[in-house]
Amino acid sequence: MRTQVAIVGAGPAGTLLSLLLHQAGVDAIVVERQTRQHVLERIRAGVLEWGTVEVLRDVGVGANMDRLGVVHDGARVAWGGRSLFFDIAAHTGRHFMAYGQSALQADLYAAADDRGVTVVDEAEDVLPHDVTTGSPWLTYRRDGREHRIDADFVVGCDGYHGVCRSIIPPTSITTYEKEYPFGWLGILSETPPLPDLVYCNHPRGFALASQRNSMLSRYYVQCSLEDTIDDWPDERFWPELLARLPEDLRAQVVTGPSIERSIAPLRSFVAEPLRYGAMFLAGDAAHIVPPTGAKGLNLAISDVHYLARGLIDHVHHGDDRELDQYSDVALRRIWGSVRFSWWLTSLLHRFPGQSPMDQRLQETELDHLARSERAQAALCEQYAGIPFEPGRARDGAAAGARG
Ligand code: FAD
Ligand code: PHB
Repeated sequence: MRTQVAIVGAGPAGTLLSLLLHQAGVDAIVVERQTRQHVLERIRAGVLEWGTVEVLRDVGVGANMDRLGVVHDGARVAWGGRSLFFDIAAHTGRHFMAYGQSALQADLYAAADDRGVTVVDEAEDVLPHDVTTGSPWLTYRRDGREHRIDADFVVGCDGYHGVCRSIIPPTSITTYEKEYPFGWLGILSETPPLPDLVYCNHPRGFALASQRNSMLSRYYVQCSLEDTIDDWPDERFWPELLARLPEDLRAQVVTGPSIERSIAPLRSFVAEPLRYGAMFLAGDAAHIVPPTGAKGLNLAISDVHYLARGLIDHVHHGDDRELDQYSDVALRRIWGSVRFSWWLTSLLHRFPGQSPMDQRLQETELDHLARSERAQAALCEQYAGIPFEPGRARDGAAAGARG
């Protein structure tokens, strides 16, 4: 097989990139290790920044999101028995959308199928070759046979544990990593959610009330890294969640059986640069953020938005300037989100050995947020997502400026 862009990984980054390229007449093939069902069943993110919403609409995959997603003006932060609404719309003029990653992934797969974009599922032992030459290629095994795809570029959208980053020699990549000494236990329950997303700082640990739709709630509690799912039956989860919420919100929570439970460790990670010869990295393959700022999925989308611009300019105009700048431009946004997610994680979680002094410092910072409009505006600006950097002006029009 031959294509212009061979994409490894059919998560949100890989499938969206294939659609952005296809829309511009650039040929791409996606190879994914897992079954489609496996990819669709992963319960992950739930908050889309407005820039993400617009990218999805522009590529024609926004219909279900616009029908089923819930637009929010802001989110709530709770501590010391009370909560404060951060009015993102008032501070930034922007909103965000609650729409689950599994629903988005289904929309992306459906669009790829409709448009005839090739997504190869269950590809084993995917391996990029000759990526430092102008003629890179991929191999994989499927149905007991070896396959080869020749391409102009390879893009690693294969997540944190993917193969693409791992083939880059250590001398050509720098990685930064921070692990947090706790995890998040998340559950889904078929119950009406609270109207707002609520992030809670509590001496018992962090908690988050989120949502998927009017009859599907997503809740999280901070847990120990040693905990397993079996340590958290519903009889333990609900009282623990309720204990961490202020009284007025506690009274509004509708409990019910969990239909999914999972534990995720928290990590910050960045690999740079995002290019090695003819291979680019995008999404979780290049960076991980703790979920506290809801940035992981949004960064995956902004990466491929920037990368698609560069690849399209290369193919259609023989112009490599956007492509050459991809790593620097994407990394500015990535580091901004890494910093914000680290800060919000540090502010809202209980750390092992945290002293009463540390707790009071967190509460003092939260009190400052409550009193200072400017501090609230800074939080809102980052939660809403920094607008994308405009593309190079072509034919007098600024390409790709969004908010
Ligand atoms: P992924 O979604 O990881 O997709 C990568 C794809 O590559 C996968 O389908 C994988 O199977 C495939 N792949 C891997 N290796 C290979 C290979 N060798 N060959 C072929 N294919 C391969 N973000 C939030 O904002 N909020 C959250 O609440 C949240 N919760 C999360 C919970 C968990 C458990 C995880 C892991 C992530 C969570 N995230 C969350 C992060 C968010 O889901 C990711 O940032 C987002 O999925 C990134 O998309 P991606 O396409 O870059 O990577
Ligand atoms: C979610 O709904 O899964 C979610 C929402 C906000 C976050 C993290 C996760 O910050």
